[in-house]
Parts: sequence; structure tokens; C-alpha cells
Amino acid sequence: AMRNELSGIVSTISDPPSRKAFDTEMQSFFYLFTRYLAERAKAVDLDWDCIKSPADDKIVPYAQLPKPKDVSNLNKLAVLKVNGGLGTSMGMTGAKSALEVKDDMTFLDLTVRQIEHLNTSSRVDVPLILMTSFNTHEDTLRIIKKYANQQLRITTFNQSRYPRIYKESLLPCPQRADDDKKHWYPPGHGDLYNALLHSGVLDQLLSEGKEYLFVSNSDNLGAVVDESILQHMIDTQAEFIMEVTDKTKADIKGGTLIDYEGSIRLLEIAQVPSEHVEDFKSVRKFKIFNTNNLWINLKALKRIMEVEGMELDIIINPKTTDDGHAVIQLETAAGAAIKHFKNAHGINVPRKRFLPVKSCSDLLLIKSDIYSLSHGQLVINENRMFETTPVIKLGDHFKKIQQFQRRFKKIPRIIELDHLTVTGDVYFGRNVTLRGTVIIVANEGQRIDIPDGCILENRLLSGNLSM
Ligand code: UTP
Repeated sequence: AMRNELSGIVSTISDPPSRKAFDTEMQSFFYLFTRYLAERAKAVDLDWDCIKSPADDKIVPYAQLPKPKDVSNLNKLAVLKVNGGLGTSMGMTGAKSALEVKDDMTFLDLTVRQIEHLNTSSRVDVPLILMTSFNTHEDTLRIIKKYANQQLRITTFNQSRYPRIYKESLLPCPQRADDDKKHWYPPGHGDLYNALLHSGVLDQLLSEGKEYLFVSNSDNLGAVVDESILQHMIDTQAEFIMEVTDKTKADIKGGTLIDYEGSIRLLEIAQVPSEHVEDFKSVRKFKIFNTNNLWINLKALKRIMEVEGMELDIIINPKTTDDGHAVIQLETAAGAAIKHFKNAHGINVPRKRFLPVKSCSDLLLIKSDIYSLSHGQLVINENRMFETTPVIKLGDHFKKIQQFQRRFKKIPRIIELDHLTVTGDVYFGRNVTLRGTVIIVANEGQRIDIPDGCILENRLLSGNLSM
């Protein structure tokens, strides 16, 4: 039934070249779907007892890496940002990387600064590649347009667009290729490999003599090119390296590297049987997690795509449509590719290489005076007296980006802040300073306005406040 429906959707395109490209995309989807059905029928979960921590030599501490020997290795490198996700947790409808972070610059602008700086300071030619989706393509093009006549080469390509499926009938939601956006989804960053191949970008990179690809999330400004990691990759002939970092109690969601029957694998929370979820979240058993900073040997990638095929573990993402139907999205994660590569392993990197923006609390921190910019890189402000960054907990009223933007007239000064908790209907004026531990609680039905110029130091504000 699925196959018929899909050919029906393909036949709604009249222009032959577009129909062909779309057909290829639907075939990839169909392949994923049949794998999903087969796995469902077998109903085999991971055998929890077979999961072990990876051997010590599979996670190399960053401090042990060699000094880079030869900057010209950088000429064999390209940088890719996965930029197809919507940032749904922050209520985004366009690209998260189009948000302004600092000095009127967006995530994308800052990434461009980082790579321009690498190219000029090391006199190399590292291109920037952006993987977008139908959700983020326009935003991305709008931002990078201004770099068209610059030295830095920027290539964009679109990842796949797959049909959502009704959970009950297992039939696709869209009827036509041009059906509304809401019937489709970008199938996770694991789609990177298919999209690189089908867009021709993989072959283009290889023909330019590029051998290595550094992949990271577009909202991670800590993911700068690191020559020691590249050197290590070359020295150890590792075809794939995953940067992992020490897990804290706050990082319960990230995937982790495991040893499964002697081979290295990525384990995502979505794959964990419910009775083991608490175990998965624990910091004791799983000490590190995936930053999604990945280093990939491009020739090896091409070989895998051509010879064995890049099968990745399927992540089932359940959703509910606006009109209340249960649907599923079949997705994959880029890091799951680790199992296909030779000499693949993890490197345990310092936390500063992982500065993602998953919530408006994260956004407040990186927009604040805690960080300053150096060639597009976030560096902790030298006036910060403490080693750690403040803990920020903004409540549900600040969950969506529009709310966040309305509630802060200007980002407060927080250089001397340790901890901030805000709950309820709270608004911040201009030039507010927060120091020490500040807790602001507006109860149900009440609103708190922090006035312009206000300084709060070790204060608990609650109730209906007139200041
Ligand atoms: P995530 O899906 O982990 O997080 O994507 P997110 O973007 O914060 O989104 P929400 O809030 O969970 O919805 C991590 C990175 O992978 C990219 C995203 O753009 C982000 O840079 N991504 C995600 C893709 O490129 N394609 C996808 O299909 C999904």
C-alpha cells in the first residue's frame, strides 16, 4: 500500500527532472520504511546485557592528542554544519541558526567569521558547507547572500523531505508532492550521508582534493576546527571520529558511545527500552555523551555508500498533527554511522567545544556578557571571576523564542551571576544587572516587571511586586 501511495505522490509532478529527483528521494524513504516494518515485526530490542562501556583505547582524552605538524592538512578539510532542524523545543518555525546571537550577528554569520579567520590566519582554503532542509533553506540563503563575493566558498544543499506516516494505517500523510509543509519532515541529521551523495556535493568535495569533513550542529559555536584532532585522525588512520564530552546531570538526553558485541556504536535515548531509561540517564554507567562534532574520512564515506550502504539505526519520532492524528517520523542520527567505519573512535573533548543552544536559557547565556567574541568564537569574558558559567533556569513563560524576545527589553548584565531562576509572568527592563543568586517568582495571575536600571543581588522576589 505504501508503495502505491508513494508512486501516486510521485506522479503528481509533471516536470521530468524534478520527478526523477523526487522519485529517488521517495525510494530512500521507502527503503527506510521497509526496514522499519521488518524491525517492528522482529520486535527485537537491544539486548541490554550486551551493552558495555567502550574499551579505554576507544575514547582518547583530548589532552593526549599530538601537536599539529603540518597546517597544509587543513587544505584537505571541509567544514559542514547540519542546519536542517527546526528548533521545535524553542518554538522556532525557521532556521535556529538565523537567530541573532551577538553584535547583530547570527549563528551562521559567526560560523562564517570562524572559518574566514582560520583561512586567513593559516593561509588555507577550507570551504563551508551548509545542509539545509525545506524548513530552513530560505532563511539560510538570505543570511549567506552577503558573503557571495567574499573569499570564503559557501555551498548549500538541501536534505531530504520525507512524508509523515499515520500511526494507525501506516500510510503517508501527503497526497501530492506539493502538499502542505505540515505533512513532511526532514528525517534527522543522519540523512546527511544520503543528501551529500544525491546532491553531488560528496563527489564535488572529493574532486577538489578534500579528504576530511568536520560536521557539527549549526547552533554549536564551540565546534571550531581543531588541528590536533585532524592530526590525530590522520596519524591513527581513523575513518570516523566522534567528539564526546563528560556527562553532567543536566545532559540526560545526548546519545552515548557503547561497545555492543565487540563493535563501537552510538546509543540514543530513543533506542533504550523504557525500563532502562533511568540507567541510561545515569552519569555513573554512561560517563560521556555525543557532542555531534564528527570527523569523517570522505573516501571511506564514498566506499561505504557504494559498497555496503549506510544503514543507520531508526529513531521513531511520534508526533500529533494539529487536527489530533497520531503520526510517526522515521529519523536517523549522523553519529550512528560510526559502526560502519574503520578505526572509528571517540575523543573526549573539553566542554567548551559543546555550546549548543537547546533552550532560551542557553540563548540568554550566550547572548550575555559572560561571553565575548573573538573571530566569531565565544570566549568567556576575562572579567568573569569564576571558572563556571551561571546556571540559568527560565520558566515556561520564556520557552518560546517570541516570548523570550518580548520579555527581555535588553539582555541583563550577568557577569557576576551564579544562579538565576525565573518563573511566571516576568518582564525585564533595560540595563538590568543580576548578581549572585537571583530568584524571581511571579505567582499565577500576577506579573512582575523588573524596571530599567535595576540591580538585583542575592535577591528572592515573589508575589505581586511594585518596585
Ligand atoms: P536536534 O534535532 O538535536 O536539535 O538537531 P534542535 O535543532 O535543537 O531541534 P529541536 O528543538 O529538538 O527540534 C541538532 C542539529 O541537527 C540539525 C539541526 O539543525 C541542529 O543543527 N538537524 C536536525 C538537521 O540538519 N536535520 C534534521 O532533520 C534534524
